[in-house]
Amino acid sequence: MPFKDNPIGIFDSGVGGLSVWREVARLLPCEDIVYFADSAHLPYGERSLEEVRAFSEGITEFLIGEGAKVVVVACNTASAAALYSLRERFPIPIVGMEPAVKPAVSLTKSGRIGVIATKATFQGLLFQRLVERFGQGVEIYTKACPGLVEMVEEGLLNGKEAEERVKAHLEPLLEKGIDVLVLGCTHYPFLRESLEKVVGPGVSIIDPSEAVARQVKRVLESNGLLREERGKGRYSFFTSGEPERFRSILRLLTGLEGPVFGVRWEGGKVSKL
Ligand code: DGL
Repeated sequence: MPFKDNPIGIFDSGVGGLSVWREVARLLPCEDIVYFADSAHLPYGERSLEEVRAFSEGITEFLIGEGAKVVVVACNTASAAALYSLRERFPIPIVGMEPAVKPAVSLTKSGRIGVIATKATFQGLLFQRLVERFGQGVEIYTKACPGLVEMVEEGLLNGKEAEERVKAHLEPLLEKGIDVLVLGCTHYPFLRESLEKVVGPGVSIIDPSEAVARQVKRVLESNGLLREERGKGRYSFFTSGEPERFRSILRLLTGLEGPVFGVRWEGGKVSKL
């Protein structure tokens, strides 16, 4: 059984999950957090759900090996592919994410909602169920945005080129008259400035990261795993890609230097370098 002083584990295909990490760190400053970026397999959104499920299982096993008392799947694609199987297979609480269709439905006035996410997220059962449950009486327009994840990984967040690339993806949704845009991929909050410029003030943007952080807190509380308030939490970062590259984008997105450690995949398992 994990203890209160064990870390929170968070993973994503890359740096996108840092949008969730920063909210968790803000809300729960005493908690230690171990973050895992599967940079070697990025982008998950272009892979099959089976592949992403296998990666998610390997990473969760690794994070539990690092002592994780809860694992946060800070990736909509991995949640779509693996949330149910992770919960079945592992004995600790698993917090996942899904595109925030429900809050978007209560917010829209035009009855037209746009959702941007990866191709794989839209293929998952999780998204279909969301639309069936909450999408009655509204139009939901979906758009996969290949290339935006890579932009964030490269640190191209603002400026003319970033806005142009974002605009090319969003134009078809804006033409439909959406007034709410759901960010269904954890990389996209880092493009917020460009997104806001492109959609203008008439479209509300929903980023679920804060809500996920609150859910992490609730899950820890209800399992008696919330750390007592003493001292600041410690953070560490693992990547299956190039640690130096991860360090520079980590610095850009969070202002932190690490520590960043490299890991490798072998036979479906993750081990430290
Ligand atoms: N950040 C991930 C998500 O929330 C996906 C990125 C990728 O395609 O690897 O869906």
